[in-house]
Amino acid sequence: MTTSSSSAVEKSSSKEFIIKRVMLFASLLIVFAIFFFTHQRNNEYTRNTLELDGSLTNGNGLFKMNCVGCHGITARGLVGPDLHDVTERLSDSQIITQVTKGLTPPMPSFEIEPQNMADLLTYLHTLN
Ligand code: HEC
Repeated sequence: MTTSSSSAVEKSSSKEFIIKRVMLFASLLIVFAIFFFTHQRNNEYTRNTLELDGSLTNGNGLFKMNCVGCHGITARGLVGPDLHDVTERLSDSQIITQVTKGLTPPMPSFEIEPQNMADLLTYLHTLN
């Protein structure tokens, strides 16, 4: 009697254990999938941008409209740092991340079309 009831308890707790394991595994899978797809999308954005030819005129215009408030009209730096030779310090994809991700407040993240991003990169390359 005692033996059979204790084995029933054991059974139900091992079932619970398995369910918990499955749930843990499922949530890990979801987290991983979200991570993977976000990463994939970022890579695609960077790849698309790097394939485009940038326009210096448009890049200059975009810089004047969006960036001079912090980086200065000649990109010599104000709140944000001097951007001359930034293309030597950072790779193009690092610069893309800097502009699109907003990882370093107070610099905001910019939602910017790949073509406009390519134009900005062309402009930044002329600052060297
Ligand atoms: C609100 C102010 C602000 C605006 C607007 C802004 N930035 Fe910045 N930016 C910063 C600050 C502050 C940093 C330094 C962040 C840090 O690393 O601490 C920075 C850093 C950078 C860097 C990296 C510099 C380095 O030496 O690592 C790049 C590249 C850059 N900005 C480009 C841009 C571009 C292009 C734009 C316009 C599309 C822009 N920023 C708009 C404030 C700004």
